[in-house]
Amino acid sequence: MNAGTPRLIIALDYAEQTPAWRLIEQLDPSLCRLKIGKEMFTRFGPDFVRQAIQQGFDIFLDLKYHDIPNTVAAACDAAADLGVWMLNLHASGGRKMMEAAMNRLAQHQQAPLVIGVTILTALDDSDLVEIGYQGTAQANVNRLATLAADSGLNGVVCSPLEANALRQQHPESFLLVTPGIRAANDPKDDQIRKATPADAIKNGASHLVIGRPVTQAANPQQALMTIHQAVTQALPDQP
Ligand code: C5P
Repeated sequence: MNAGTPRLIIALDYAEQTPAWRLIEQLDPSLCRLKIGKEMFTRFGPDFVRQAIQQGFDIFLDLKYHDIPNTVAAACDAAADLGVWMLNLHASGGRKMMEAAMNRLAQHQQAPLVIGVTILTALDDSDLVEIGYQGTAQANVNRLATLAADSGLNGVVCSPLEANALRQQHPESFLLVTPGIRAANDPKDDQIRKATPADAIKNGASHLVIGRPVTQAANPQQALMTIHQAVTQALPDQP
């Protein structure tokens, strides 16, 4: 799958389809992709994903698979059949799980990109101690990102503040997909480890996941365009 532009991924986090479709109708698939996660997938299933694809959008299926290798490989196979552009799984599922997923997807002509979840940003260092991880969150993120790369994954999800350190260790082709994006004057909502769109790109992010700054904007189209311009200007290879 084409990893390149558009670099913006709009998170569809709705309990009902109507507001999601109202938003989708205002968005341009040449400017953004869409992320469908556990809430909407559990409520509306693969049909919702298919309909969004039919509207011309690339879909990041954010279901964070984590299970035995055979089960995750089969789930990835199903996601590839659905035609999604990107999916994710937990890197802590281990090398065998990640390799099984990549081997199964290699049988597809148009395999989705696969990115690894390292350490969920909701966990702090003390949570990690409680579940038996040693070292800081950052050290675990680095270790799991290396394991994901060694296992053949296309990249990882990380906060825009972690992207800089990861970009030093991994080539440009390794995708760094960052949520936690807020313009300087946006409400930060529940995002703590956040950065502006331009700073996330300068830190080495390849794709930005953006929810409320676009979905809750009075004019989502305008909000998307403003972020798109900020990203374009921050890219080193762009005028
Ligand atoms: O509205 P907001 O821009 O905060 O949405 C960010 C999206 O990225 C949400 O769908 C959220 O679940 C997701 N996400 C996140 N932090 C992570 C991983 C995913 O905010 N570490």
